[in-house]
Amino acid sequence: MPAGARPLVVLKLGGETLAEQHDTLAGVADVARTHDLVIVHGGGRRLTDWLARLGVESRFESGRRVTDEASLEVALAVLAGVVNAELVVALERLGVRAVGLTGIDAGLLITERVVELGRVGRVVSARPEIIRVLHGAGLLPVVAPVALDRDGAVCNVNADEAAGGLAAALTARLVLLTDTPGVLDREGRTIAALDEPAAEALIGDGVIAGGMIPKVRGALVALQAGVPEVVIADGRGRSALGDALGVVDGPATATRLTPPG
Ligand SMILES: Nc1ncnc2c1ncn2[C@@H]1O[C@H](COP(=O)(O)OP(=O)(O)OP(=O)(O)O)[C@@H](O)[C@H]1O
Ligand SMILES: [Mg+2]
Repeated sequence: MPAGARPLVVLKLGGETLAEQHDTLAGVADVARTHDLVIVHGGGRRLTDWLARLGVESRFESGRRVTDEASLEVALAVLAGVVNAELVVALERLGVRAVGLTGIDAGLLITERVVELGRVGRVVSARPEIIRVLHGAGLLPVVAPVALDRDGAVCNVNADEAAGGLAAALTARLVLLTDTPGVLDREGRTIAALDEPAAEALIGDGVIAGGMIPKVRGALVALQAGVPEVVIADGRGRSALGDALGVVDGPATATRLTPPG
């Protein structure tokens, strides 16, 4: 890191933490004073609620949402509209200058269509120039997980994969905050450290399931690409991000994923 540069961290906010975000975001605002943060948000629960109101049932495969043409429009409205704006509002109220954008803006995320999931993209790379421009201006980017595929069609993207792809392109530390105390073992205890063989074994056994599958796999892809460290942690509470970064001491409710050997 060049002298005087602020540490760069990609932070994914997901799970129920998005709904009860006040304390978490207050902690994020604390860290934003000393770090260049990029926030990528999910919004799965909100999107499921909106789709249900419209009479559309949500379906997931290995933790990734199946998205047809009709639900894509709702995904875009809820993720890039409702959830993104709410986060920017909350950060502004906490005194953080935040800017909402999506993976579409300035070609930030580049995806390939996952045909069997419908209008869903898999992140293949990122163009982080816009992030550097915003950080240079003292602004905190808040990224909604939608992007264009190679044909220029809008796609829904799993937010963990989006965060992993951005961290890889920026070679930034990656923190994935969710609504469980990290990755849990069969007995429900937090697994302190995880490498790729152990993670794949737990996925194979069904201990890591649902939305935790793309989270762990996204973390492993980021590590392969040179990201120095990934932490999956409980996002509930003011010290969540500080604890994950080791900025402040706190209870160990996190899983640290380590690069391949
Ligand atoms: N081994 C495991 N340890 C912890 N959580 C697990 C495990 N296996 C499955 N899960 C589930 O994964 C969920 C987290 O993934 P989920 O996709 O629901 O949230 P998120 O990614 O934080 O939010 P969003 O998808 O909205 O961005 C947990 O709430 C839990 O139900
Ligand atoms: Mg998820």
